[in-house]
Amino acid sequence: MQIHSSIPELRTALRQSGRVAFVPTMGNLHAGHIALMQQARAHGDAVVASIFVNRLQFGPNDDFDRYPRTFDADCAQLVAAGVDLLFAPGEEELYPEPQEYHVEPPATQNQLDGAFRPGHFRGVATVVLKLFNIVQPQVALFGKKDYQQLMV
Ligand code: PAF
Repeated sequence: MQIHSSIPELRTALRQSGRVAFVPTMGNLHAGHIALMQQARAHGDAVVASIFVNRLQFGPNDDFDRYPRTFDADCAQLVAAGVDLLFAPGEEELYPEPQEYHVEPPATQNQLDGAFRPGHFRGVATVVLKLFNIVQPQVALFGKKDYQQLMV
């Protein structure tokens, strides 16, 4: 599995990849993520995963700093699942300056879970659009466990 943390390196590597099936994650992988990686294989010539703990989707009461970071164990699982390429940028790569533009999802962002986590789905949509622009996948896979996120 290739691992890239820089956007230009990732783009160079992806030039030869054909159709890309993409699974964005924040790491701390479990069986649900791995099932998505395996399903992705049917949708692309290359399976690309990302690991990025996205500060924008954490509220002031969510503990961004305490979110589990288990990079080595995650990589071992991704290799075993046959993932071709991992994009694991640092914060300075994705947000080199304060991210002041946001993707504003429709009003459903404020219902259900969103009612208790103001700005959460705006942060998710913002990073996902950014990742889509970087990876340019033909297909992306999201788990149904976070159903509202999937709908957003
Ligand atoms: O579901 C997650 O792990 C995250 O919300 C996502 C989609 C990777 C965006 O940071």
